[in-house]
Amino acid sequence: MAAALNQNTNLWRIAPAATVIELQTIEWFKTIFKFPQQTEGVYSSGGQFANMIALSAARQYFCQDVREKGISQLGAKLRFYVSDQAHYCHRQALELLGLGTKALRIIPSDDNYRINLDLLTTAIKQDRETGAIPAVVIGTTGTVGCGAIDPISELAKIAKQEKLWFHIDGSYGALGILAEKAPSELHHINLGDSLVFDPHKWLYSPIDTAVTLVNHQGLLSQTFGNQVTYLEPSLSNQDSFDFVNLTPENSRPFRAIRVWLPLIARGINAFKESIENDFMLAKYMASLIDQHPSLELMTPTVTSIVCWRYLPTHQLTLERENLLHRRIIEEMAQRGIACISQALLHSNIICLRACFVNFRTTSDIVQEVVNKSAEIGQQIYEHEFIN
Ligand SMILES: Cc1ncc(COP(=O)(O)O)c(C=O)c1O
Repeated sequence: MAAALNQNTNLWRIAPAATVIELQTIEWFKTIFKFPQQTEGVYSSGGQFANMIALSAARQYFCQDVREKGISQLGAKLRFYVSDQAHYCHRQALELLGLGTKALRIIPSDDNYRINLDLLTTAIKQDRETGAIPAVVIGTTGTVGCGAIDPISELAKIAKQEKLWFHIDGSYGALGILAEKAPSELHHINLGDSLVFDPHKWLYSPIDTAVTLVNHQGLLSQTFGNQVTYLEPSLSNQDSFDFVNLTPENSRPFRAIRVWLPLIARGINAFKESIENDFMLAKYMASLIDQHPSLELMTPTVTSIVCWRYLPTHQLTLERENLLHRRIIEEMAQRGIACISQALLHSNIICLRACFVNFRTTSDIVQEVVNKSAEIGQQIYEHEFIN
């Protein structure tokens, strides 16, 4: 529908209804995540871009004159902290923001793939001692590899003590908050200065639907707003609101309708049920893998991501085992069984990964994928890995 309408949503005066719909869905999300009233939000294409918007706002917060002067001496000293499980988009954002990857401190994760808080506080201290300026700590609610959730409440405390901006990358997992038995850390998401989440992941929206929320009124327009003649606000409605000022996009599609219409049509409970079902399917899959003699569950199943490996009868070198798993993934896709993805654990172990964000997946499909991964694993092992 959005594509057929081909509605640009940069200005209220050319898209009043779309603007009101976008504002309304942003209000709904603020309620869902319990963000304070002054929070502002904007849609963009995906988590990658939405995180860049949030980190741009954080940069603006610390360097008020960055738009005029570029990265000053102060800007060059800013440091950002993220776990080794975080998505690469944060590194890319710092590259694009001119801060460079040297501004990013990658903190090792613990046995449950969550940021190690002791190592984080040590890194902050070390940076202060060397004259750098600790600025932003990034927590992930649902890491891309295994769906781990960083200790959000503890990170918020550290951020407060150290006067850091607390950004939460909930691209994949934040909307898990809608489930009745959502992991408790998700209920602390409102402690973030900014949050990113992808309706195109766990709200089943079409691709190209991500949201950034920023809990600092006016900061997004300080970061991105422009006074340009052809983008002048409405003359007739002094209260009109122009999304073009909250984002680096000028022409922008009518993304909010992909959230608004299904929520109006189906009601929030339909989404809650589907998300709960995804949690349930992940737990079911983990239990099948756990019971299977030739499969091994590799990570705790905290959200709706399951990581596992096929266990060959005789141990192979890590390099050969990784190759075996890449072949299993390829073969499962080529035989039309499933497009499972791969996760890299402890920076060197490749495993099979399933992420449940599709309301059409059933427990029969899960069973089939588990059994076939073992069967195909064995076939490939016997044909290609033993002489
Ligand atoms: C934690 C996390 N951050 C960012 C992204 C990037 O999101 P997108 O693919 O929507 O740009 C992903 C994608 O999987 C993710 O899982």
